[in-house]
Amino acid sequence: MKKVRKAVFPVAGLGTRFLPATKANPKEMLPIVDKPLIQYAAEEAVDAGIDTLIFIIGRNKRAIPDHFDKAYELEAELEASGKLDRLAEVQHILPPEISCIYIRQPEALGLGHAVLCSQAIVGDEPFAVILADDLIDGGDKSCLRQMVEVYEKEQSSIIGVQKVPLEDVKNYGVVAGENIQDQLWKLSGLVEKPQPADAPSNVAVVGRYILEGTIFQMLKETMPGAGGEIQLTDAIAKQLKQESVYAYEFAGRRYDCGSKLGYLQATLEYGLKHPEIGTAFREYVSKMNNIK
Ligand code: G1P
Repeated sequence: MKKVRKAVFPVAGLGTRFLPATKANPKEMLPIVDKPLIQYAAEEAVDAGIDTLIFIIGRNKRAIPDHFDKAYELEAELEASGKLDRLAEVQHILPPEISCIYIRQPEALGLGHAVLCSQAIVGDEPFAVILADDLIDGGDKSCLRQMVEVYEKEQSSIIGVQKVPLEDVKNYGVVAGENIQDQLWKLSGLVEKPQPADAPSNVAVVGRYILEGTIFQMLKETMPGAGGEIQLTDAIAKQLKQESVYAYEFAGRRYDCGSKLGYLQATLEYGLKHPEIGTAFREYVSKMNNIK
């Protein structure tokens, strides 16, 4: 049985929707309360049994490798000042058995191109792709863990999806297929960012994928599509013509942290349940109820 051991994090995007905050700082380092988005994504991968994290980085992304690396001076200062809780926190960003690999994407040619940059490391194993700006609170079971469980049964590519209002499909990859079980579709097509009138459904791709290694050949043959970019969606649309591909509607809540509204919603919800400040924050927010 094939196992999913590697996850790819495409993090080379420019984050223009958050300028000027993202001028010198990667958007994946924006915090939700006290943890950057990329750390939530890495923790989700580790929770799903992944042991190798592959980051596809671009210029101005030094902060991401630094975040997962050892910080000697900071650790020495925290130790000297007796802040041992904080020290433990920065020392255990990831469990020690996890490997991080960084690949530079020389040009921002699209999500499909970013994933193709990981081929030499992934080889022909199944692997996960996580888009860190889709923050997903899966509750008891992370979204990727739910998807790995489906993969273990189906042994075929699985795309994470959720239903969205029809007028929003133009922001997503959208699936066509047969709903074969409660949360599972067998795909017959996939389109990137269609207009509502042309959309095959309102079932939209979110930033979680488990892909068979055959995707790399499809990516090599994929020409620029929507927005002039090499789209992962287009490569998956080719893959499903040759092998089974499924869409899985995960249980949980997704926050689109690539948008300001989604980012603020996530900050509010994660703030309310934060172990350190949750109670005080809830009290503060409850007093704001009558704001107009
Ligand atoms: C990407 C994918 C799209 C998917 C979306 C989910 O688009 O190309 O298929 O629905 O992520 O967040 P982006 O948001 O990067 O434009």
